[in-house]
Amino acid sequence: MVNELADGLVLASGYLSPAEQADLVAEIRQVVAAAPLYRPVMPRFGRPFSVQMSNCGPLGWVSDKSGYRYQATHPVSGAPWPDIPERVAKIWQDLSGYGGPAECCLINFYDDDAKMGLHRDENEEVFDAPVVSVSLGDEALFRFGGPERKDPTKSFRLMSGDVLIMGGASRLSYHGVDRIYPGTSSLLKDGGRLNLTLRRVRKV
Ligand code: SIN
Ligand code: MN
Repeated sequence: MVNELADGLVLASGYLSPAEQADLVAEIRQVVAAAPLYRPVMPRFGRPFSVQMSNCGPLGWVSDKSGYRYQATHPVSGAPWPDIPERVAKIWQDLSGYGGPAECCLINFYDDDAKMGLHRDENEEVFDAPVVSVSLGDEALFRFGGPERKDPTKSFRLMSGDVLIMGGASRLSYHGVDRIYPGTSSLLKDGGRLNLTLRRVRKV
């Protein structure tokens, strides 16, 4: 079921079947075996994120005391990020409507207590491609606002297998994850939630 929740904000509910979700998780486990999840810190004061992160693709999104940026290597190991798995790339091809491949797949892992504050995805050089975001595992309460931090927000649940597309007028809208609902999915054997955020960073 595909729903346009706001101008440019499209939720494809149950886009991935349970079997497809399981295949995707197996591939992401391989990626994080090569590029382990780590806990980034916020710019300036270095407060740790509650979410653990890794990336695949030519560019990875990272945060440390000096700021947010994209870089080609893992900040802990120094190794280049693994390639984006084929079936992840296909989700972008099928849903982004964009004439070039995704360059970054950010992998966010939420344990039971993790959340993500309200922010905009604005570190890219171009904003003509949507952000395509895949939810796997436990349900999350997602908050979505407008282009200004003070804009009113609405909240809805993201479930395992959902794909959210933030494009057009919603590309630079504030959003975040207020909470995880532990035990709402059995996809990840130790629980928690995985989010894959696919983005184009540079001009095609
Ligand atoms: C993000 O905005 O980077 C993550 C969104 C999510 O986890 O659904
Ligand atoms: Mn985001």
